Amino acid sequence: MSAAAYDLILKNGTAVLPEGTHTADIAVKDGKIMAIGKIDGEATETIDCTGLHILPGVIDTQVHFREPGGTHKEDLEHGMKAAAMGGVTGIFEMPNTNPLTTTPEALQDKLGRASKGAWCDYAFYFGGTAQNAKNLSEWENLPGVCGVKIFMGSSTGDLLSATDDEVLAVLSNGKRVVAAHAEDEMMMIENKKNILGDSTDVAMHHIWRSKESCLSATTRLVTLARKAGRRVHVLHITSAEEMEYLAQNKDIASVEVLPNHLTLHAPDCYNKLGTLAQQNPPIREKEHQDALWRAIDDGTVDIIGSDHAAHTMEEKQGTYPSTPSGTPGVQTLVPIMLDHVNNGKLTLERFVDLVCEGPHRIHQIAGKGRITKGYDGDFTIVDMNKTETITHAQQQSKCGWTPYDGKTVKGWPVMTVVRGNIVMRDGELQGTPKGRPIAFRETL
Ligand code: DOR
Repeated sequence: MSAAAYDLILKNGTAVLPEGTHTADIAVKDGKIMAIGKIDGEATETIDCTGLHILPGVIDTQVHFREPGGTHKEDLEHGMKAAAMGGVTGIFEMPNTNPLTTTPEALQDKLGRASKGAWCDYAFYFGGTAQNAKNLSEWENLPGVCGVKIFMGSSTGDLLSATDDEVLAVLSNGKRVVAAHAEDEMMMIENKKNILGDSTDVAMHHIWRSKESCLSATTRLVTLARKAGRRVHVLHITSAEEMEYLAQNKDIASVEVLPNHLTLHAPDCYNKLGTLAQQNPPIREKEHQDALWRAIDDGTVDIIGSDHAAHTMEEKQGTYPSTPSGTPGVQTLVPIMLDHVNNGKLTLERFVDLVCEGPHRIHQIAGKGRITKGYDGDFTIVDMNKTETITHAQQQSKCGWTPYDGKTVKGWPVMTVVRGNIVMRDGELQGTPKGRPIAFRETL
């Protein structure tokens, strides 16, 4: 018997291609896309995708998988299982683990751990601080690094660059993407004392972690970026005022928003979910959510990431504000956003732009983010007509809960393909973990 020409052919799907969305067969060999169009050749496996949409593999550029240091609530294997189950083919993991990912040794440790149970491809952020800034030009280019992360305001973990000098030190060393958590530490310390005081009400979360604190950090960051001549990627924008400012500064700043901020709003989320809706920066009122949607519409937003940040139910059930901030999200990113597509909030093509093309463009990912010949055979195959209810029980995350428990959505990932390997089909993981570190183009 002659060897099949291809490893995998996806037949008759509606493919979201760079030139438009239309019916096409797609063939993969040795992990790469070899042909797109009407394909008659033989393959080891042929899958009929009639009635399904084939998207480029979704890349979640902001997850916290807690390993090492917090593996009682999440670890790399569970986090990547959750990714594969949710239609995500690649993840960028954050450095606020314990130890922090601020040295080459810590990076190597994470790469070694990830290789043991990788259900998707992966890369890690290097944590930037004033202490390691001088080494960043060299360390940011280590294999497996997707960029540098700074926290301007305290959140989970000890990574902090609160002052202008500290931020400038990081921005002045290196060329890769600097992704920033922009909340103003000094303002939040004052607000915690003067506004939150002794309150234990989680509905205060978005009031003391104020929109003014976010705007202050974002404007300081952009001013410092101009001084250093270095682009910045501003993570999880939550307020109308920041969006308005960033829309005027797109030449130096790219912008991320989260599904939670597009879906939940204050005060309802705090009334319904309590501390399960506590995250940083916080979920704000509907008028801010509306502004985020306008920014999706007008092109200000470049990327949607989940900011998957698992904490155990027990930790979340403590007394606010000692409860930790963050919600899991890597497994629900695709279903929640497909539901928004079905509700007419954005087109499927714009969704692909935000979770495939956007990550490719901003981070200069090599060979991922679009369905084109020679690129990796990564696909998120979705059934836009499938109605499902999201539950705690479905969640692969070690924390075992989701803020969307009980929510019925239309649009669901039915298959996840990583470099030609089917890792999830119809809600079941398939085969063995085959994930690898993601590669990047050399920055200019
Ligand atoms: O709510 C959050 N949780 N925001 C962050 O920036 C960090 C994250 C975490 O790691 O728990």
